[in-house]
Amino acid sequence: MIDRVVDARPGLVLDVATGPAGVALQLADRTRARVVGVDLTLGMLRQGLANVARRGRADRVQLTAGRAEALPFPDRTFDALTFTYLLRYVEDPQATLDELARVVKPGGAVASLEFLVPEQPFWRFWWWGFTRLVLPVGGLLTGGRPWFDVGRFLGPNITGHYRRYPVAWTVEAWRRAGFVDVGVRRMSLGGGLVMWGRRSRD
Ligand SMILES: C[S@@+](CC[C@H](N)C(=O)[O-])C[C@H]1O[C@@H](n2cnc3c(N)ncnc32)[C@H](O)[C@@H]1O
Repeated sequence: MIDRVVDARPGLVLDVATGPAGVALQLADRTRARVVGVDLTLGMLRQGLANVARRGRADRVQLTAGRAEALPFPDRTFDALTFTYLLRYVEDPQATLDELARVVKPGGAVASLEFLVPEQPFWRFWWWGFTRLVLPVGGLLTGGRPWFDVGRFLGPNITGHYRRYPVAWTVEAWRRAGFVDVGVRRMSLGGGLVMWGRRSRD
């Protein structure tokens, strides 16, 4: 995902749902861009700020609170935009994609990363066992009840999302939002989805 943005040599990048700023820091490491990370969870942003300071990147990585559905930036502000693990958490993925497109300059690069349900039955079987069994039990053993709940949430959340919004729908949603040259790559035995595109020039 980062490669798709690095190749575009942006000057200003927005990372949406930046969380602890892992993607924002990767962008700062691999480009000369100024990076703005936005997230709605203050606890995540606090951790992100600590990570940015520890890595000595506060000069080029800024974090701010905001919702992907109503970004606090003017139209056509950013040369590039990334978002990770976002669309499963929003009410209306199409409206959110429209809003992401609004803040990207025409021709700007966009890339995303998300979990996915493996297509191949063999890997889907093991993925199902991993998400339904290993994640909750592993969570319980390492972090107690709160992590059991997190582990139990993730698998059904991913499955439910793709039942409502299959990959083909998501590709069309990117196009409806105004992105062109939309590409898709299934990774990690089908458990990960990288998407990329460019904001159209009109
Ligand atoms: C699974 S975390 C991923 C964080 C980060 N992108 C990463 O890869 O480490 C998902 C993040 O999305 C954020 N998020 C969820 N819904 C959001 C929304 N509507 N607008 C902005 N951020 C959102 C959460 O606060 C959380 O930090």
